[in-house]
Amino acid sequence: MKADVSASPKASDHKHLVLDQKAIDAAGRSLDEGAVTPSYGPWRDDVVKLLNDALATELVCVLRYKRHYFTANGVESPAIADEFLVHANEESAHADRIAERIVQLGGEPDFAPSHLLDRSHAAYDESTDLQAMVRANLIAERIAVESYRQMIALIGDKDPTTRRMLEDILSDEEEHADELKDWLGH
Ligand SMILES: [Fe+2]
Ligand SMILES: [Fe+2]
Repeated sequence: MKADVSASPKASDHKHLVLDQKAIDAAGRSLDEGAVTPSYGPWRDDVVKLLNDALATELVCVLRYKRHYFTANGVESPAIADEFLVHANEESAHADRIAERIVQLGGEPDFAPSHLLDRSHAAYDESTDLQAMVRANLIAERIAVESYRQMIALIGDKDPTTRRMLEDILSDEEEHADELKDWLGH
């Protein structure tokens, strides 16, 4: 019996992997666009907006962790308070990477303090009890994880550089959430 080959793709259906020469030529012309080439497509403004909201989130996280670090000092678990400072510094590094990418994309990083909290996905927190602090930070980290996951899915292959940066940041946020979960109930 002859095998049915009708389901397998014919050689003529195969799409060759060829570069878009027109886009490469155009990329060599518009020099004022810096790193943003024509194939970037219509997504740049959306990506800059997503990144600016992520920037606001990171900055609010820095402020929340710093508040917790300074007010939790001397309580039952100074080691946890010290980790709040470690997290604050890591969130600050995330904010710097995001701001740098916004500028590379030709956008403006929004550091305006007046509406940081409106744009942040995560909340500020003024808990005075260490366990309440840990809980508030775990909630914020879980919100960060979810929002970065969604951003990565939305960006897909539209902007590989931004996606890789967000994947790096996401793995840090997952580590933060994991550590906080271990400190719950200590
Ligand atoms: Fe972060
Ligand atoms: Fe984090």
